Amino acid sequence: MKYDLLNLNAVKKDNPADGGITYFESEKDIPFKIRRVYYIFKTQEGMHRGFHAHKLNWQLLFCPMGSIEIILNDGKETESVLLDSPSKGLVLHPGLWREMIWHKNDSILCVAASEYYDPDEYIRDFDEFIDYVNRKDQ
Ligand code: TYD
Repeated sequence: MKYDLLNLNAVKKDNPADGGITYFESEKDIPFKIRRVYYIFKTQEGMHRGFHAHKLNWQLLFCPMGSIEIILNDGKETESVLLDSPSKGLVLHPGLWREMIWHKNDSILCVAASEYYDPDEYIRDFDEFIDYVNRKDQ
C-alpha cells in the first residue's frame, strides 16, 4: 500500500526534564514540499473521522500527543497504522481512503500537506473512491 511509516528525527537530550524535540524538513525528510499544515485538537477518545481520500495531496500525519489509529484502504485492502509516539510520521501518497480513530482524549493529529486546501481534490464518497481507483488501474 502506498504509505511510508517514518521514524522522525529526534534530538537526544541529556536531561529528560528538558522534554523532547522531533523535527522533519520539507523535501529532505519527507518526499514532498509542504504547502499547508493543519491540526485537529480538543478531541475525545472514540472520535472517528476522516472518511475521505485525496486525488492530489501527499500528506505527513503525526501525533505529537496521544494515540490515533489511521485506517487505510487503497481500493483493494485495508491496513491500520497506530500513531502513538511523537517520533512516528506517516506519509500517505495520494489516492488512499483514510479513517482515523482517537484512542485517547486530547490526542492531536497534525498534518503537513503538499497542496493548498481545495475541496474539489477530496473524494468523500467511498463508492466514488472505488470507481476512481478502478478507472486509474485501467
Ligand atoms: P474538512 O476537511 O471538511 O474536515 P472534516 O470533514 O474531517 O471535518 O474541513 C472542515 C472545514 O475546515 C471545512 O469547512 C474546510 C476547512 N478547512 C480549511 O479551510 N483548510 C484546511 O486546510 C482544512 C483541512 C479544512
